[in-house]
Amino acid sequence: MTPNVIILAAGKGSRMKSNIPKVLHSIAGEPMLHRVIKTAAQLAPEEMHLVLGHGIDQIEASLNALDGPLNTVLQAEQLGTGHAVKIALAHVPDDGVSLVLYGDVPLITHDTLAECVAAAQLGHLSIVTAEFSDPAQLGRIARNDAGYIEAIIEYKDASDDQRAITEINSGILAAPTHLLRNWLNRIEPNNTQGEYYLTDIVSLAVADGVAVHGIVVADENEVMGVNDRAQLAEAERLFQGQQTASLMAAGVSFADPARVDIRGSLSCGIDCFIDINTVFIGDVSMGEGVTVGPGVVVEDSTIGGGVRINAHTVIEGAIVAEDCQLGPFARIRPGSNFAAGVKIGNFVETKKASLGKGAKASHLTYLGDAIIGPEVNIGAGTVTCNYDGVDKHQTTIGKRAFIGTNSTLVAPLEIGDDAFVAAGSTVTSTVEPESLAVGRARQRTISKWLSPIRRRKRQE
Ligand code: UD1
Ligand code: CA
Repeated sequence: MTPNVIILAAGKGSRMKSNIPKVLHSIAGEPMLHRVIKTAAQLAPEEMHLVLGHGIDQIEASLNALDGPLNTVLQAEQLGTGHAVKIALAHVPDDGVSLVLYGDVPLITHDTLAECVAAAQLGHLSIVTAEFSDPAQLGRIARNDAGYIEAIIEYKDASDDQRAITEINSGILAAPTHLLRNWLNRIEPNNTQGEYYLTDIVSLAVADGVAVHGIVVADENEVMGVNDRAQLAEAERLFQGQQTASLMAAGVSFADPARVDIRGSLSCGIDCFIDINTVFIGDVSMGEGVTVGPGVVVEDSTIGGGVRINAHTVIEGAIVAEDCQLGPFARIRPGSNFAAGVKIGNFVETKKASLGKGAKASHLTYLGDAIIGPEVNIGAGTVTCNYDGVDKHQTTIGKRAFIGTNSTLVAPLEIGDDAFVAAGSTVTSTVEPESLAVGRARQRTISKWLSPIRRRKRQE
């Protein structure tokens, strides 16, 4: 049977010093609480219950972005972790097991949770712990000679000997629901903080003869809690490090894996090279042998094998086929769709523009709402005038057309296959295939003309 999941997130998070509830602060572009929910969702739980208090409106509004049913439980006053779990249990049936998670422990993995639930399904109270090099003010784990957990002592209530213990309570635990409910009905707030401690169930379990099983995570970072912005930044770097490590294991090279941010999912073929200060947002997939230059940003795009993205290029919502060359300093906006071997150079912006195989726009150009055939050459300074202040209009350019430098293409406009637009033209009407369009004033030359400067010199 799958577990019921309870996620605690009612606390204020005052150390964040923020108007945003702590659990809505993001790691790799996604709120911590959403990460925890998604990890828990991998267990296919019976139901998920969120205990909310501070910032409940903002948190509930954020949940619309997630799929799946979530039950929110209001804890108006934060009387302690034991109280929080108890009120959530009012919505959970007695059979099966319950798993308790924290909205501010964002790096927990599915494997650890699955192990924790499995031990609870054997009838144990199962607690996720870690060996911390610096256990600070976390709850300490006391074990008996047989290795079972005997008690959890909160730092504020601990003796010096107990504070010397380095195994800590992550807060994450699972137990058969009927036992958990029974223990929580028996805990009292007799401690330094006057709170209902969830951790007090340990001694009740021991007294009831229920084995308390500790699952020690291999990497302490998995259970790190985020209480302030420094810890948020630390969790961010840890998470980014995990992502780059798995990409490196899959055959991707980084100039420096510490200077890349992946905010979403990045999938790469082998032999990609990713330079420094690059950011990947949303769903990005890249084929084999893609080179990404420094300072590049790629969002929600598909990049074909062998593509070269040069420095400081920004790509969003684009499909780029194999062997294209983009940038440096190109801006590829949503709806850009490039066939193989397209070349987009510096200071070129494209939007809703499809370019055929081998088409080129090497410098200083705007291509918006355009369909451009294969092998077309777009000269420097070309602009598609796609907007009249009310509507957007289309420009269509046929195969192998040559658009001279500094052409102004006033849409709606069609330019035929093999047509040629002379440099500096303003083109407002159809250009038939294989014809030349010249849309500029004819040059006049006035010989022996005296410029004002030369005129003055003569008078002196
Ligand atoms: C708790 C544990 C401690 C553990 C630590 C790990 C207890 C008594 N102590 O301490 O052993 O080492 O977590 O981080 O459980 N919350 C509510 N409602 C409440 C109180 C808390 O929803 O009434 C939520 C908070 O928003 C937070 C989580 O529970 O997400 C933990 O609460 P917090 O006050 O930070 O517990 P700690 O004192 O850190
Ligand atoms: Ca805490």
